[in-house]
Amino acid sequence: MERQGKGKNLRTDAGLVVRDLTVTFGRGRKSFNVIDSLNFDVAPGETLGLVGESGSGKSITAAALMGLLPWGGRVSGGSIRLGATEMTQLSSGALRQTRGQEMGMVFQNPLSSLNPSMTVVQQIAEPYRLYCGASDSAAREHALQLLREVGVPDAEKRLDDYPHQFSGGMRQRVMIAMALACNPRLLIADEPTTALDVINQAQILRLIQRLQEEQGMAVIFITHDLSLVAEYAHKVMVLYAGKTVEQGSADEFFRSPRHPYSQALLHAIPRLLHQGERLTDIDGLPPRPQAFPVGCRFADRCAYRTEECLVRYPPKTGDAHHFYCFHPVGGAV
Ligand SMILES: Nc1ncnc2c1ncn2[C@@H]1O[C@H](COP(=O)(O)OP(=O)(O)O)[C@@H](O)[C@H]1O
Ligand SMILES: [Mg+2]
Repeated sequence: MERQGKGKNLRTDAGLVVRDLTVTFGRGRKSFNVIDSLNFDVAPGETLGLVGESGSGKSITAAALMGLLPWGGRVSGGSIRLGATEMTQLSSGALRQTRGQEMGMVFQNPLSSLNPSMTVVQQIAEPYRLYCGASDSAAREHALQLLREVGVPDAEKRLDDYPHQFSGGMRQRVMIAMALACNPRLLIADEPTTALDVINQAQILRLIQRLQEEQGMAVIFITHDLSLVAEYAHKVMVLYAGKTVEQGSADEFFRSPRHPYSQALLHAIPRLLHQGERLTDIDGLPPRPQAFPVGCRFADRCAYRTEECLVRYPPKTGDAHHFYCFHPVGGAV
């Protein structure tokens, strides 16, 4: 497994630093936290793989970083620092400007985020004109270069086409071009290839990887598929019911996953199993945010559960590679 950037001296002061990030929906007695005290860093040139089952809080984390939480949700605690900017302190105008210049986002379904009534050149050029101060002709030229860069064939002829005239894989490329228009410091890709076939999936992920290496972006790659994280991420953060259960370098995590939930996720993927291990499904469902328990949130699905797990949240164990569990699996390897 090639992991570019490994061992490089990556700086976090120019990347993303997130501390105790908490998102709350609702007010007063009916309020509930959907993500709770998340801590992570992504340095320039580094990819953080954010994994967890559906509903664990991955997209809400992305929305909080972008300052685009759905109605009713707010960052109720913690800090998001991108380079020298504290994002949680910005006015809405300054946030829009910073997001336009410094952040790009690629979603699972490009049709829901591309505007069907605008040509692709309009959609790529617009942020470049608006946030990077380019003239109309410079923005058109830039859009053309970007479309070529992301591998859209006959880019010159396709500039004035509409999104519906592109195939799924090509639309995803257009969205990447849009996200990259201002050469962002941070790129967030939220399940960017879930709707694509395997060949398109690999092409899109390699494209993001190549652009990241060339431009030194910090990348957050969100997926429910640990096998993709193994291939494309330097670091891993496993979310369960809105909390981090385990985090570390991809090397350490895949060598020795310690949380029973991480192990269960790995055991759902045949090719990541060590010889002799069995493929399993995780029985049961995660708790809902309105009813998160006081103890370990995975306890009712966990084979190693004891009384202690139900009454107290497990403390953090470890440092660079850390987990929250009273009964970790594996151990020193
Ligand atoms: N607009 C909303 N109002 C209330 N709860 C929400 C809203 N959007 C998402 N949630 C809740 O937040 C949790 C995390 O959702 P999400 O981040 O979309 O999960 P993931 O991306 O990991 O599948 C879920 O329990 C979901 O029900
Ligand atoms: Mg999601």
